[in-house]
Amino acid sequence: MTAYPKLFSEWRIRHTTVPNRVVFAPTCPTWVADPTEGIFTDQAVAYYEERARSGLGMIIIGGTIIHKEALYSELNFPGLWDDAQVEGLARVAEAVQRHGTRLVTQLLHPGLRAMNVVNKDPAYDHDAEWWHVAPSQVPPGEYPNAPMPKEIEHHEIAEMIEAYGSAARRAFEAGLDGVEFHMAHGYLPWQFLSPLYNHRTDDWGGSYENRLRFSLEALASIRAAAGDDKFVGYRINSASFWPGDLEMDDVKQIVTDLDERSDIDYVNISAGVHHSFIHTPMTYEPGWERGYTKAVKEVTKTPVLLVGRITHPGVAEDILQADEADAILLARQLFADEHWVQKVREGREDDIRRCVAANYCWRSVISGGRVQCVYNPVVGRERQWGEGSLSAVAAGRKALVIGGGPAGLEYARIAAARGHEVVVVEREAETGGHVRWHAQLPKRSEYGQIAVWLAAQAAGNGAVIRTGENVDEDNLDALLAAEQPDHVVVATGSHYRRDGWQGQTAQPLPGWETGNCVSWVDVATGAVEPSGSVIVIDDLQDAMAPLTAVKLANAGCDTKLVTRWPMIGMETIPEVYYLWVRQHLYEAGVEVLPDLFVKEIRGDAVDFLNVYVNDITSTLPADWVVMATGRQSDNDLYHALRRRGVSTEMIGDAIAPRTTYEAVFEGHRQARKL
Ligand SMILES: Cc1cc2nc3c(=O)[nH]c(=O)nc-3n(C[C@H](O)[C@H](O)[C@H](O)COP(=O)(O)O)c2cc1C
Ligand code: SF4
Repeated sequence: MTAYPKLFSEWRIRHTTVPNRVVFAPTCPTWVADPTEGIFTDQAVAYYEERARSGLGMIIIGGTIIHKEALYSELNFPGLWDDAQVEGLARVAEAVQRHGTRLVTQLLHPGLRAMNVVNKDPAYDHDAEWWHVAPSQVPPGEYPNAPMPKEIEHHEIAEMIEAYGSAARRAFEAGLDGVEFHMAHGYLPWQFLSPLYNHRTDDWGGSYENRLRFSLEALASIRAAAGDDKFVGYRINSASFWPGDLEMDDVKQIVTDLDERSDIDYVNISAGVHHSFIHTPMTYEPGWERGYTKAVKEVTKTPVLLVGRITHPGVAEDILQADEADAILLARQLFADEHWVQKVREGREDDIRRCVAANYCWRSVISGGRVQCVYNPVVGRERQWGEGSLSAVAAGRKALVIGGGPAGLEYARIAAARGHEVVVVEREAETGGHVRWHAQLPKRSEYGQIAVWLAAQAAGNGAVIRTGENVDEDNLDALLAAEQPDHVVVATGSHYRRDGWQGQTAQPLPGWETGNCVSWVDVATGAVEPSGSVIVIDDLQDAMAPLTAVKLANAGCDTKLVTRWPMIGMETIPEVYYLWVRQHLYEAGVEVLPDLFVKEIRGDAVDFLNVYVNDITSTLPADWVVMATGRQSDNDLYHALRRRGVSTEMIGDAIAPRTTYEAVFEGHRQARKL
């Protein structure tokens, strides 16, 4: 008897029975060797099978390009514009359906959001076009100087509508159960629908009827390929969160009309367009989109699929029981834990590697890489590291791990799971390392779950974790004598310097000794409590300096955030946190001052120079100066161990300061080698 009866109940889409209501949401399927060929590799087969094997009801493969002139390059998307792409998809279908999971693919034309970077590569086809089409010449509004599309001509509209149909035909030739028409998120069909993008005066623009025409005809073309047997759904966002774009009432009207005028089998509702909150920040409530699906359910007879920050099955069950949706989509949660369904079925909810919504996954895709999770290194490596690959060792060794940050904890988790004896010693009262620092900033507490989960799993696998135990050269020999380890892993991380050391001058900031200079970590952890006028110096461009400034401003400090860069938060953009960070800064009343570099710190004042015109100088009062500047590795112990001839290695930031992703990855990889 499951605690989630509705979640694990069968349901039907058209003539197809789906074994349960847990669906892998469409997410960028980055498992192709070459974005211009768009052919799935063995990596795709293993990635999707790993998730199907755990018992998913249905998988919707994400954006699959329907036309060669609509490449989203250099993002690694698959395509269905060519018969050569069928076989790779068929192999995925076979692997997924073997486990009873239904397989769907999402048909995508990005329209004015297509990117044709690869088309311009001199090594690529010289006949490829260097433009993309959209209903009207309107550029994407979310970034400066965005490429202006070509206004699509009538014969090209016909060609694209036909391309949706032939892409669907190829999907069914590959054996898929259904296809999904991507109408959401500001891509081509949405561009036709939205007066923001569609300024046409012909039959394809102007009136609502004309703006709906493209979707109706594309869906008809897809249905012709599907016949009666296969199912056809569509995805549309509810709210767009973008001024002038379509909102919930418009979408309800569209759903009503598609229900009556096209032969569709489900509606997949998301929220936000491409450049607003689709993959929402960690402060959004799980299931926050339930109001939208509830509203859509009032106007459609077809099943309605919900998405949005779902990590715990209890929320999913509650939404289904309330009849606010018919199935639950998980996107990021199934990157973070491919075995979510299995764990839920087995009542092992506490073992779920919970998605913390930090969006490292989106960063990895949007920068032209493959989907990666900040603390699940198995993603994309299922062939090597998938289920069953953690072989138990014949004779366990004893590993001493110094440092209980993400690298050390992941090492302990994996090594202990393989049957090694593992002892972790952590200097601080709590484990977590830099993850814990991040989590102590305002609105970032969810990030701490990474360390909480790693520590609990490591301990659950049998690792002994001791906190509040500092190891240095003085007590190292005594520790080695007491523990008698076979191997010592140095996972001692790195520290943020409080002298303002950074890459511009590769020196500390002049005069730092005269001021009340601390690092952002000192503020985040509460080691210091600044007051009065505070300057936060941001050299890093991630969320840490802004959120430290927010914390200080909320505590009553007169806070200024100063950077030598042209803006703050540049590194938060690929994680879709810039908007969020900015909102918090404005709400807290933090003043942001770009283009300034510290000339000199003079006690309670700081002199700045303009980085572009050095003669322009200014001075600000500073009772405190908080540095979000350079970091350096803490690895003295590694060298001390080497000198002693002890078997040792370094992992994570102790090697070179990087992100949680590299730390966890190295912990994982090295523990497999012990
Ligand atoms: C890396 C990544 C890739 C995504 N790719 C797609 C896509 O191809 N098509 C789509 O409709 N939505 C895509 N999404 C949006 C998700 O389907 C989903 O709506 C969103 O992540 C919110 O769900 P979640 O909170 O469960 O992650 C993507 C999201 C992420 C994080
Ligand atoms: S990277 Fe972060 S947001 Fe993405 S799946 Fe992993 S935990 Fe979730």
